[in-house]
Amino acid sequence: MRWFLVALATAVLSAGDYKIHRAASPITIDAKLDEPAWQSAPPTSGFIFNWFSSGDKEPTEAKLLWDDRNLYVSWRVTDRHISAYETRRNGPVSKDDCVEIFISPNPNKVANYYTFEINAIGTMLNRARTDWYTGGAFWDPEGVEYRTSFHGRPSKDESPDDREWIVEMAVPLRNFSRDAAHTPPQEGDEWRLNLMRTGGKTNGQQSTWSPIRGEKRSFHTPENFGRVIFTAQAARPGEPAAATAAHDDPAPAQGQRGQGGGGQRGRFGGPMRRNFNPTEVAEGRVLYNRSCTMCHGVDGAVGDRAPALGAGRRYLRVTDADLFDSIKNGIKGTLMPALPLKDEDTNKIVAFIQSLRATAIDVPVAGSVDKGREVFFGKGKCAECHMIRGQGGIAGPELTDLGTSRKLDDIRQALTEGKPLPSRGWQPVTVTMKSGKSFRGIVKNENPFSLQILGLDNNLHLVNRDQASKIQYDTKPLMPTNIDKTLSPEEFQDLLAFLSRQSRRRGAR
Ligand code: HEC
Ligand code: HEC
Repeated sequence: MRWFLVALATAVLSAGDYKIHRAASPITIDAKLDEPAWQSAPPTSGFIFNWFSSGDKEPTEAKLLWDDRNLYVSWRVTDRHISAYETRRNGPVSKDDCVEIFISPNPNKVANYYTFEINAIGTMLNRARTDWYTGGAFWDPEGVEYRTSFHGRPSKDESPDDREWIVEMAVPLRNFSRDAAHTPPQEGDEWRLNLMRTGGKTNGQQSTWSPIRGEKRSFHTPENFGRVIFTAQAARPGEPAAATAAHDDPAPAQGQRGQGGGGQRGRFGGPMRRNFNPTEVAEGRVLYNRSCTMCHGVDGAVGDRAPALGAGRRYLRVTDADLFDSIKNGIKGTLMPALPLKDEDTNKIVAFIQSLRATAIDVPVAGSVDKGREVFFGKGKCAECHMIRGQGGIAGPELTDLGTSRKLDDIRQALTEGKPLPSRGWQPVTVTMKSGKSFRGIVKNENPFSLQILGLDNNLHLVNRDQASKIQYDTKPLMPTNIDKTLSPEEFQDLLAFLSRQSRRRGAR
């Protein structure tokens, strides 16, 4: 049963989505695209002429790849009239023949996006339109390598020989770590972006990969960015871009993610610290709430003017030394000031921040693990839907590795507030068939014609949409909330203690 559930629960891509494969071979940035990695990478769907009036609709073939260091982007631009004159860094390159990519690394915050515009002679313009960047109109990404077919020429005039030009670019992923959930990305991570082309004297068409809908005639409409999904698989030659082949993904099911990371780091990039001194952490918390919450949020949450210091995001400062340094000396180019505290107090705050970032299993949790187990399998009825080490139901995510994949705060929140909407892979649905029969379950996979539903009766149902008279999606997840109120305070604490100790690693119980 297990293998097939996992296979069904993998992400379903809708048409228009693009899968970014791992590069299968090293890539040299030379505007050639002759590497096997590029040859086997699928192109995006064709560019769209959103505001077309007349002229030639010249096609553009764009591809994306990634590896542990970089995001790779290539454009192969069919163009019978190639011209470019702007040579000043951050000059108005889009008046020339120019390609662009605008990237939102966080799908929940598409308004934070990064732009790369490159003309045919290799002049680049960049902006960081994000809530953290305070450095002015333009932005200097770190370590970008790129080449165009006419790279470095003082100018390029139209010529009867013009056929096409190419841009090849490698952007270090660390440029996106303030917004991306993980850098490098993990299997199934979703970003949003658009790829564009503009300008030139003749046929200065504007075209985009993801269509621009709505009134605003602008590329700067992140709500129109298309969806891209990272996969650790290398592309196989001839694979379609909007991957209907999602089924052979080795991706773990939604809700069971997070075994990755490994090494000496926790899932969210925080180091594993096994010996938190509870007094030091408590004092650090008081000091933090006194000095830092005019920008950051209370208890390390996101604040009005500064990011969360302990939430499900990728941190830029990870080691004790880096944290100490950013508090003592501030962070250049941002609002983060140097804070005049005694070193001893700064160290306590560092311990507090690290405790927020550590996964549940690494921090002390009050309560009895054994009593918590009784609540889980007894009064709490959790095992009706959740499996731990082979015992329990399958209507909710398996929790065997919860302590090493989630932070204590996330677990508490899952039990009290829950998710506002069902996650992908856990969408509850009630289906009524034209025959009158009806049943309830979780949508594991769907497309315009059919749904695969794991019934609460533990059977798998394949439903053709035209045989159903009603398909009703729940707006709330199946997971009950307010568990802290339905159990006694002791029972709730014991349950937290039990859950926070769950780990696939042997003996970790
Ligand atoms: C005036 C506003 C302000 C105050 C006060 C402030 N911060 Fe910050 N802090 C920021 C901003 C903005 C950032 C984000 C900088 C960036 O984008 O890298 C930040 C970033 C940080 C980071 C790095 C986060 C990461 O993910 O790498 C740490 C650690 C931090 N602050 C700790 C503190 C502590 C501890 C205090 C109090 C002693 C404090 N800050 C007070 C504005 C502030
Ligand atoms: C009726 C089925 C059901 C019951 C009963 C139930 N859960 Fe859940 N639970 C779910 C579903 C479904 C999700 C995933 C919700 C989503 O993300 O859309 C979930 C999510 C969770 C999560 C978050 C998992 C993660 O990967 O972050 C935790 C923790 C959890 N449940 C614990 C419990 C505990 C403890 C109990 C008992 C007090 C319980 N659940 C009872 C169905 C259930």
